[in-house]
Amino acid sequence: MIRLEGVSKEYFMGDVEIRALDAIDLEIQRGEFLSIMGPSGSGKSTLLNILGVLDQPSRGAYYLEDVDITRMRDRELAQIRNRHFGFVFQSYNLFPELSALENVMVPLMYAGKGKGERRALAAELLKGVGMDHRLKHLPTQLSGGEQQRVAIARALANNPTLILADEPTGNLATDQGAEIMEILQNLNDGGTTVVIVTHDPTISRYGKRLIKLCDGVIVQDQITAEQKKDA
Ligand SMILES: Nc1ncnc2c1ncn2[C@@H]1O[C@H](COP(=O)(O)OP(=O)(O)OP(=O)(O)O)[C@@H](O)[C@H]1O
Ligand SMILES: [Mg+2]
Repeated sequence: MIRLEGVSKEYFMGDVEIRALDAIDLEIQRGEFLSIMGPSGSGKSTLLNILGVLDQPSRGAYYLEDVDITRMRDRELAQIRNRHFGFVFQSYNLFPELSALENVMVPLMYAGKGKGERRALAAELLKGVGMDHRLKHLPTQLSGGEQQRVAIARALANNPTLILADEPTGNLATDQGAEIMEILQNLNDGGTTVVIVTHDPTISRYGKRLIKLCDGVIVQDQITAEQKKDA
């Protein structure tokens, strides 16, 4: 599904160069559940953002379904993002002035759905994450775990083939985190590809493959299906 070849990313702070990723080769197949771990500053978020086409590599190639998208224009990249990817962040990133239902309706609007359809689909998606009893709540009126469930429903609005989650349980208590991971696991069981970044070994075990980054390099890449939580 995705193939990175020699992907590097450098940031410049004045004339100081920071190498966030160093010649990454990585293949992700459809249906995988991949956990990315590594120390702070090792390049995990940079890698996730490049995988999600939120950021561009400095060098190297990114193949999505065998098409090199490295040289595509911003508009095409935005289309790819909306069509293929769903994003979940540590800080939920919900619109504070919108209700749970309205938050999930936003991407459906960009997808050109009419208002009635948006409402119905958003309510359905929130039901799928156990949030149909909180449709009218604003983010500030929801717990962290509930906000993250709304964020997942919103990420699912465009029916993504790939969910990218950067520390999705980073701000949550253990039991809330487990609930979020079970939702992601169910999505993966249904065929959605999932990539998460986490610091927490317990969370990483929901994945079926574990990648460890250190100083922008993949230092470990192993199949861990036997470590699955219910194994
Ligand atoms: N916009 C930026 N400008 C300059 N340097 C950056 C930028 N973004 C990230 N970096 C640097 O690139 C390196 C990798 O950052 P990245 O955010 O990918 O790390 P991370 O593994 O996600 O860390 P954490 O676990 O703390 O979230 C770090 O040294 C960071 O300081
Ligand atoms: Mg990070």
